[in-house]
Amino acid sequence: MKKFIVYIAAILLAFPVKADEGMWFLMHIKRLNQVDMQKMGLQLTAEEIYSVNNSSLKDAIVQFGGGCTAEIISSEGLVLTNHHCGYGTIAELSSPQHNYLKDGYWAATKKDELKPKNLSVRFFVRMDDVSKRILSKVNDKMTELERETAINKEIAVIEKENNEGGKYTVSVRSFYQGNEYYYFVYQDYKDVRLVGTPPETVGKFGGDTDNWEWPRHTGDFAMFRVYADKNGNPAEYSENNVPLKPKHYLPISLKGVQENDFAMILGYPGRTNRWMPAGGIEQNVKYAYPAWVEGAKTGMDNMKKYMDKNDEIRLNYASKYASTANYWKNRQGMIDALSKFGTAQSKAKQETKFDKWANKPANKAKYGNVVATINNYYALTNDKAKHDNYLQQLLRTSSYGAISRGLGKQFENYAKADVAKRKEMEGRLNEMIDGFFDKLHIPAEKDILAAQLNLYATKAVNYPLAPIVIDLAKENNNNFTSYVNNAFDLSLFSSKERMKAFLMLPNEVLVTNDPLYLLSDNLMIHFNTKSEEIEKAQNDYSAAFRLLVEGLRESKLAPIQYPDANSTLRLTYGKVMALPADKRNDAKINNYTTMEGMVKKYKAGDDEFDLPTRLLDLYKQKDFGQYADKKGYMPVNFLTDNDITGGNSGSPVLNGKGELIGLAFDGNIEAMAGDVIFDPKLQRTINVDIRYVLWLIDKYAGAKHIIDELTIVK
Ligand code: ARG
Repeated sequence: MKKFIVYIAAILLAFPVKADEGMWFLMHIKRLNQVDMQKMGLQLTAEEIYSVNNSSLKDAIVQFGGGCTAEIISSEGLVLTNHHCGYGTIAELSSPQHNYLKDGYWAATKKDELKPKNLSVRFFVRMDDVSKRILSKVNDKMTELERETAINKEIAVIEKENNEGGKYTVSVRSFYQGNEYYYFVYQDYKDVRLVGTPPETVGKFGGDTDNWEWPRHTGDFAMFRVYADKNGNPAEYSENNVPLKPKHYLPISLKGVQENDFAMILGYPGRTNRWMPAGGIEQNVKYAYPAWVEGAKTGMDNMKKYMDKNDEIRLNYASKYASTANYWKNRQGMIDALSKFGTAQSKAKQETKFDKWANKPANKAKYGNVVATINNYYALTNDKAKHDNYLQQLLRTSSYGAISRGLGKQFENYAKADVAKRKEMEGRLNEMIDGFFDKLHIPAEKDILAAQLNLYATKAVNYPLAPIVIDLAKENNNNFTSYVNNAFDLSLFSSKERMKAFLMLPNEVLVTNDPLYLLSDNLMIHFNTKSEEIEKAQNDYSAAFRLLVEGLRESKLAPIQYPDANSTLRLTYGKVMALPADKRNDAKINNYTTMEGMVKKYKAGDDEFDLPTRLLDLYKQKDFGQYADKKGYMPVNFLTDNDITGGNSGSPVLNGKGELIGLAFDGNIEAMAGDVIFDPKLQRTINVDIRYVLWLIDKYAGAKHIIDELTIVK
């Protein structure tokens, strides 16, 4: 026993892991986290969370639609994720007549489940460390390009070795800025159908006003089902497909949460930059993010003008608008938090220490220039960062901004092809055209493009603008409205009819001289071109950043022991944890919210704070069934101190037994510096209480058959 304790102490000393912060690899939990987690309340072993040979918790966690996380919650492939993760799909399946975004939807039987065009979930099979293998292929004399080429060659081999003839998708990713490499084996299922969703008034309650804020009252969930062929393998959609029998699904706990309860989250965090140098933070705060915010708002305002006109336009732009608005607010929060906490300054201090260490005789040859090289790169690219962000928002919010790359290129290829090849391309092109115009409203597109061009031409200064924009700005006195109107009048890309007519009578010059194609092509080329000076600085920077991270780890000057998020599966663990008392929250402890608080926020007919009449009636009757807290209130959302970021949306929050207690769906605005630096005092994860989710399904939607499918632990 004594030996065991000494052993544990040694482990704790060797890995002074700080609880709560950290996005951990599943294959490292046993070595790095298990002891700590069990001390905090975990009752599972590392093997029960991640096992290569036996079913384990990880088999119930999927990446959803490429960008979110979801979990399997029944033996028949039922998938739970956030409403905002299903948002685009729900909008796609809706029409003004059957508006599921507005009214919600619950499939009465499996036959009524709705198949969207493209939606897949990705299961995680296993992972392993291939750092040694990959790094043995490179040396310090290589340029970054040579290095990349050598690495990609080895990656291709590793992928081939592990994909079992195409059964699996294998992805090799770099960590710690190119100092480590791991491969991940996945299995993708493409037949995923909508089972149910609450109306937007519930699923997005609080809208953009409450987004990224606590106290919160959002029923941010939607439900899907994975289908497979008869043998349980992935299959394209077919009526003959059957619900997937998963290796594991999550039981659901109705016991509720209390301060300091253990809570862990498994999911796919998208991106953190915890190793980002001071210069990068400074560049983001002063150059990149302000441009992002302004460009996003310009797009949003021009979408909104038209969305408010009718339901069809609103449905078409709902998803683009929501994702633009989400990061519009996030980036403002980041500017505020990073400035307020002086994050760049404290990173700069760390870099000064590092520079001292780096210039010791033993380290100088390798690390001596690292900090100077990094700072040089940022100084050289500040204005470019601003420019690129304006341009990026143009390309993201305008459907025509990047048309040269998608439909435009296809049209060019089609025109150049011979008759046989054209025949072959025709079907796919027709589909692309229909898909493109499905979600478009030309008057809105004209306004978005003109407004973005105006903004870009006048604000993205101190860095060369795209040549075509310089000319047009001069000709039009920085007002692009009439130019854009003309371009739409002349362009073959401005209507479905014109595009389909072109397929009958293709002509290469017609594409390459098309005004919208020319504009887009010029913008895209410009976006991807840089001066030799910047090219060189970027090359040096990549090498220096990799060395900075290597050196920070070697010198132990950075306490971080986990790699940055990059959309690979991670586990984060911590506790249910309140924020300091807040007058806006009437709950007894500021770690949960109640339906009472939600109803107090209710504003009839409001864009963001309306609620369904049925929900209000049930609330009045206090019809909470088995879902109320033992203290009597109906819970809505709660807080944990888990370390998550965008991409974790929809992730399961699990108790010590691995039972589902909620879904992670947001973070708090005060902690928006979190992607760069984790602050244990401020950073919280905002979760939907699973009891509210089940109450909505059971009492509000009356979908009892779904409740019967679940394994509920009381
Ligand atoms: N902030 C959330 C996230 O990034 C998205 C919330 C969506 N809700 C909204 N009101 N836009 O995961």
